[in-house]
Amino acid sequence: MNAMKVTITVDEKPFEVDAHLNLLQACLDNGIYIPNLCYLEHRSPPQASCRLCFVEVGGVDQPVAACTVNVADQMVVRTDTPAVRRLQKSGLRLLLSVHHVDCKNCPANKKCALQDLARFLKVGLKPKHLEQHLKEPEIVDTHPFLTYYPNRCVLCGKCLQVCRSANGRAMLAFAQRGFDTVISFYGGAGSAATACDTCAACIDICPVAALLPK
Ligand code: SF4
Ligand code: SF4
Ligand code: FES
Repeated sequence: MNAMKVTITVDEKPFEVDAHLNLLQACLDNGIYIPNLCYLEHRSPPQASCRLCFVEVGGVDQPVAACTVNVADQMVVRTDTPAVRRLQKSGLRLLLSVHHVDCKNCPANKKCALQDLARFLKVGLKPKHLEQHLKEPEIVDTHPFLTYYPNRCVLCGKCLQVCRSANGRAMLAFAQRGFDTVISFYGGAGSAATACDTCAACIDICPVAALLPK
C-alpha cells in the first residue's frame, strides 16, 4: 500500500484515494455523487450543517455524514441504501418546507442546487401534504449592494465561508433559530459595504440565487 493512499470500496467498486481526504471529497473526486449542499470542495474543516451527505459505512450502525469522516484503508461504503435515501429525502423535504418554489421567476432556474437534488432524489419540488413555513419579509433590501431572499435560502452557509476567505472575516452570519433562521449582514454602510462593493463572492457561490446584486 502506498503510504499516502488508502483503498476504499464504494458501492462495490474499489478506489485508491488520498489518505487525508474526507469520504465525501474522496467520492466526489472519483465521480461518485453524494447529495450535499453545505460542502465547499477541498476546504477544511467542513461545516457539516446540511445533513444531506449520508452514507453507510461498514461496521457503523447508523448512516454517517460523509463530509465528517476521514477515509480509512479497507473502508466499505454504500451511498444508496434505503436508510440513506430516507434521511436525504426528509432533509430535502425540510428544506422545501421553508422554500418559496417559484422556479419560473427565479434567476437560479435550471442551475439550481435544490432542483438538482430534487431530481436526483426523485422528490417533487412541491411535495403533497408539505406544511410550509415561509418567512416575512420575502425580500431583504437593507444592504447597500445585496438583496437577500430568505425564502430561497437553503442555509448552506457557503456565503459565510467564502466571505471569510475573501475578507478575513465573515460579513454575513446566521441569525434567528430553527425555521426562522436567516442570513444577516454586519456593517451596513461601513467597512462591510465597502468590501461587498468589489467582492460578490457570496453571490457567486450561492447555489439558489438567495443573494443577488442590486
Ligand atoms: S431557488 Fe431553485 S427551487 Fe427555488 S425557486 Fe429558484 S430555481 Fe426554483
Ligand atoms: S444565502 Fe445562499 S449561500 Fe448563503 S446560506 Fe443562503 S443559500 Fe447558502
Ligand atoms: S455536505 Fe456533509 S453535512 Fe452538508
